[in-house]
Amino acid sequence: MPCLEGMIMTGENKYKGKVLVAGATGRTGRWVVSRLQHYSVPVKVLTRSADKAASLGDVEVVQGKIQSDEDVAKAVEGCSAVISALGSSEVFGDASPGEVDRDGVMRLVDQAAKAGVRHFGLVSSMAVTKWFHPLNLFGGVLTKKFEAEEHLRSVFGEDGRSYTIVRPGGLRDGEPLLHDLHVDQGDRLWSGWINRGDVAELLVVSLWNDKARNKTFEVINEAEEEHRQDSLEKYYDKLAS
Ligand SMILES: NC(=O)c1ccc[n+]([C@@H]2O[C@H](COP(=O)([O-])OP(=O)(O)OC[C@H]3O[C@@H](n4cnc5c(N)ncnc54)[C@H](OP(=O)(O)O)[C@@H]3O)[C@@H](O)[C@H]2O)c1
Repeated sequence: MPCLEGMIMTGENKYKGKVLVAGATGRTGRWVVSRLQHYSVPVKVLTRSADKAASLGDVEVVQGKIQSDEDVAKAVEGCSAVISALGSSEVFGDASPGEVDRDGVMRLVDQAAKAGVRHFGLVSSMAVTKWFHPLNLFGGVLTKKFEAEEHLRSVFGEDGRSYTIVRPGGLRDGEPLLHDLHVDQGDRLWSGWINRGDVAELLVVSLWNDKARNKTFEVINEAEEEHRQDSLEKYYDKLAS
């Protein structure tokens, strides 16, 4: 059973290890960085653009590409956890689903395990098991994400490591803790929205919440109406082990 107890702290500093955020300059990645900073967790980022990372505040920056073993090894060095919010943006080339969502995430998983990283949080997607879903017309993105998920489960599901895979519905820019959420498992949902801030918060909470270990789940807003939340930790109580 993975053991993160030694890294848990009390009060606002809930986690004392350093966390690498991949995809930190993206719309969800920025929320991951800001929620880690909210909990006073030291942050390192891997980015293709140091200029873009300049607006992230107090973070350690490794400039590099997810295609490079060397860059990725440098990025995970000294980190006890990784959160990936990487995402493809083109059908072909360096930013394609094959390069980023599958091979890039797999490279990050392998290098993280090699460097002694203990926990890996991944932003995946609702419908990753549905090869016939229309979104898959974009370079097979869902299938590529599912292959990366499988790799993560196999590498971080053992040997004292752990993972948390969040499969959000449609992403909206927006703050965390503004909505009741609906979580499910087994990829049975077909539609729904969620704020990027909530996806980030769920992954940050997974660093110290025991019930988040080795879980894969879908998540959307329960309702459109705002209903302020004190914490998202309760949603991990609803997941099957
Ligand atoms: N949009 C939706 O409704 C939706 C729904 C469910 C799940 N998702 C998934 O959620 C995740 C986050 O989405 P998002 O909208 O926040 O993503 P985003 O804004 O497009 O950000 C993607 C991040 O990936 C980085 N990246 C891309 N290629 C890279 C490479 N070769 N090397 C290093 N970094 C690279 C980008 O860096 P740069 O800044 O350098 O480009 C950026 O930081 C994605 O995996 C997406 O597929 C999205």
